[in-house]
Amino acid sequence: MKQEKILVIGASGQIGVELTLALRKIYGAANVIASDLREQNPLLEGTGPYVSLDVMNKEMLHVQVIRQNVTQIYLLAAILSATGEKNPGLAWHLNMQGLLNVLDIAREEKLTKIYWPSSIAVFGPTSPRQDCPQKTIIEPTTVYGISKYAGEFWCDYYFTKFGVDVRSLRYPGLISYKSAPGGGTTDYAVEIYIDALRDKHYDCFLEKDTYLPMMYMPDAIRATIELMEAPRENIRTRTSYNLSGMSFSPEEIAAEIKKHIPEFTIAYEPDYRQAIANSWPQSIDDSVAQQEWGWKPEYDLSAMTIDMLKHL
Ligand code: NAD
Ligand code: SER
Repeated sequence: MKQEKILVIGASGQIGVELTLALRKIYGAANVIASDLREQNPLLEGTGPYVSLDVMNKEMLHVQVIRQNVTQIYLLAAILSATGEKNPGLAWHLNMQGLLNVLDIAREEKLTKIYWPSSIAVFGPTSPRQDCPQKTIIEPTTVYGISKYAGEFWCDYYFTKFGVDVRSLRYPGLISYKSAPGGGTTDYAVEIYIDALRDKHYDCFLEKDTYLPMMYMPDAIRATIELMEAPRENIRTRTSYNLSGMSFSPEEIAAEIKKHIPEFTIAYEPDYRQAIANSWPQSIDDSVAQQEWGWKPEYDLSAMTIDMLKHL
């Protein structure tokens, strides 16, 4: 069997750091090349190869793929929801052209597998608020959500027309302690733990009763690897899979933190991100992922809070 050689694009980001480390454990450090536009994240230093790379530079990306004998790409470079609303043109350009560059190279070089994450941001105010199903009305109102939904159909198109084995998950908001989040609406659920430990207080940019779908990073990494390792014939959804972990509001996560830090206080000062959060479902139905490749989350709010506070 051919030795897989994996390129992770956007490896210095919130997901990239942990996914790169997890892939290196499975495939061997030398077979997982981390890459990013910015400098290498300190947590990756000394753990394996790193190249500086701009996914928008298709020629340079193509050269790297050939030179390094890359067989799989995990594309994580993107502009997230909150930053995207500040610069819609740039978000659209990076989120679309970056994906098209990778899909084209995958087709030309016959790469074995591609991973590209979508998001719960594909859903909009007309989607069901509770247990939002895999297939439903999807009318996103953020440029990030529009780019993710269009991207899902590009993935499906490259699979159907050219046989590119591209797989995707609609991640909920991801919570982690290793690498900082990069400009999303769900970032509050990371900041709250950091501020609780440091200041015993958090000013939250969402209202107290804003429920959103969330997931702890170890579950997200495991879901990604399980999806990528599933037999090709099991992956019958070639747009992107709904994925669910837990749902909670700022008030509920604050109450959970208070169990461990009784003096913790929270204040609510909603800003422009409230409208983004209001446009998304509160919970997600991921039964298709459960059926097709056996997805099952492990962490709930209580277990995640214990782990976050222990590690931060
Ligand atoms: P992040 O912002 O933390 O990391 C993205 C990385 O991409 C950064 O290190 C950045 O330097 C790099 N990058 C930006 N432009 C680049 C370019 N032109 N070339 C190469 N690298 C470039 O984002 P993340 O949270 O790790 O998200 C990764 C992916 O997962 C994105 O597609 C995002 O939309 C998706 N996602 C994330 C979440 C979440 O909660 N973190 C939820 C849903 C979906
Ligand atoms: N966590 C992401 C965001 O808030 C969801 O895709 O943008």
